Amino acid sequence: MKKIITQIEKFQYFYPYSVAIVGAQSQSAVNYMACAWHTALSFSPPLFGVLIAKKRYTHQVISDAKNFTVNFISADRVKLSAQMGRKSGLDMDKVKEFQVRLSPSKIIKSPVLEEAYVAFECKLTDIRATGDHDLFVGAVLAIHEEEKCFNADGVLDTGKIRPLLYLGSDFYITIDPDTLKHVLP
Ligand SMILES: Cc1cc2nc3c(=O)[nH]c(=O)nc-3n(C[C@H](O)[C@H](O)[C@H](O)COP(=O)(O)O)c2cc1C
Repeated sequence: MKKIITQIEKFQYFYPYSVAIVGAQSQSAVNYMACAWHTALSFSPPLFGVLIAKKRYTHQVISDAKNFTVNFISADRVKLSAQMGRKSGLDMDKVKEFQVRLSPSKIIKSPVLEEAYVAFECKLTDIRATGDHDLFVGAVLAIHEEEKCFNADGVLDTGKIRPLLYLGSDFYITIDPDTLKHVLP
């Protein structure tokens, strides 16, 4: 028998999700936050969505910048996720404080993170309200990838990169490459 919960308080049963560091550079600020709620939205055109609570400083910075970057990090960069995800740019300059290394983007103004094994440059095309979070829709204009970490089909080489996964409540894990299977019907 499964337990059924109807008084839903801590709603995080869907994890593990991969962690992205999402942010932007506006006229007045540069700020990033940890983001586990993200998803591809369309292949053609390539659209990527990130869900950001209205109270986050990043919400304000991306709204002003009208572009953002999505930066995926490996499990050995877990500390960066905690720093970007448990401190707010409303209280400190996180980039300066935590010495986040940035690289210029090719098309947009907002920089990507040097630490990312893959990063998307996105132009903000829409903001949709979804409860206490807003869905920021980005048109993916450029992708920066660590050399040779994806194969020709765009599949991650798990021998080279272990992506950072989030379990909720400040717990993290990664994948086990020994479980890799290529399965066809
Ligand atoms: C691993 C992790 C994932 C997170 N995912 C999200 C998310 O998807 N959306 C969101 O609004 N906040 C998320 N947060 C919380 C923000 O990252 C956090 O509140 C951060 O301090 C906001 O920074 P800011 O105020 O500078 O934007 C996450 C936090 C952690 C640690």
